[in-house]
Amino acid sequence: MTIDRDRFMKDGYMIVRNAIPADKLEAVRSAYEVLVDLQKGIWAADRGESDPPEGVWATSAQPRLNLETMANLVDERSAMAIEAWLNPNIHGLSSTLLGVPDAAVTQMMLMCSPVKDHGPALWHRDMYPPYCAPLGGYIEDILEGGPRYIQWNIPLYDDDVLWVVPGSHIRVNSEEEDASIRSDPRVPLSGSIQTNLKAGDGVVYILPILHWGSNYTPLLRRCIHGGFSTFSQYEDLSFLNHLSDNTQAAFSRWDLRSEEMKEHTESALRAFMAGNKDGYFTALERLHPGRGDRGRALSTVFLSKTSKRIHSLKQPEFHTLPEQEQGWAERPHPGTLQWGRAFAARFSTAEAQRLWERFQQVDSLVQSSEPQYAPGFQGANSIYNFIGMPLTEAILAAV
Ligand SMILES: [Fe+2]
Repeated sequence: MTIDRDRFMKDGYMIVRNAIPADKLEAVRSAYEVLVDLQKGIWAADRGESDPPEGVWATSAQPRLNLETMANLVDERSAMAIEAWLNPNIHGLSSTLLGVPDAAVTQMMLMCSPVKDHGPALWHRDMYPPYCAPLGGYIEDILEGGPRYIQWNIPLYDDDVLWVVPGSHIRVNSEEEDASIRSDPRVPLSGSIQTNLKAGDGVVYILPILHWGSNYTPLLRRCIHGGFSTFSQYEDLSFLNHLSDNTQAAFSRWDLRSEEMKEHTESALRAFMAGNKDGYFTALERLHPGRGDRGRALSTVFLSKTSKRIHSLKQPEFHTLPEQEQGWAERPHPGTLQWGRAFAARFSTAEAQRLWERFQQVDSLVQSSEPQYAPGFQGANSIYNFIGMPLTEAILAAV
């Protein structure tokens, strides 16, 4: 197939016919169904006192399997669920679109239909700027150096749930979009398109594109969901034994890269702490080769959050922080250079204090004096900027 990367960069999405070839579709469906049954068992066992017997399966608008938490359950019957990600139309194409020799599967999930009608969800971008960086920073980074991460939906049955707004990954919302989302976030936006995917087709898109889950009905839905960057985020690789040699080798390569990224993140933080500009920029180059100043500024905002979370994790009163904040600190999110609790252990309490003091200048640059809100994000009001990114020079001067 011909790949129009320029068009992908401009539109922010691309429909890929037969991402999973027709002759493999049935095998991939069966493999995922094995995992669905296993996950349904887990949800039933973990249900709350007031939940129905099926737990999440019965209550969620979009019951979602996360293969990261199911790694030890994969066997030869479900191995195709993972092998599918290595298909050339998915893995090879992702490498081309990211402009790297060997893109890595970062996340693997499956979105399922609910048992009862839940109707449309809300238009949104897959981000909450107070916990990562302002939208403007993402846009500048993509325009300068291309996407760091691309996300896929690959339905195993015909699926027209997803809508996107072409081009919205490299611009902020228009006034019309803001007004529409404020008045009713569950109706089509002007200029949006429905993806209308046939079984086995895929849509690959650049976050933070504006998108919409238009209708969550009980019509059978099994949509592979996840994405690629240059590393994977799998701590548990116990599924490897059941995979082909090629796939095993790929996951091992990607895992090694993730470990290297942790090293580079630590080097960047230590260099920043020591006021070692050269060391800091060298570490950033190793984390994301070839990025310019806009990319360095975005990474610096991500690292300010990393330092804040490491500092939080070291506090005796950590458990008194808002639950959401605890969750963000505990949970790795490598795409924004967050590596969770185990990574924080690399720093002493005194180092964490010094690190956070050093990063406060950057942190204050992405704040306003008043709590604010912008339509189309995943979260509530915050003093952190949703849209406006500080000047690149101001951020880099803080290094
Ligand atoms: Fe989303």
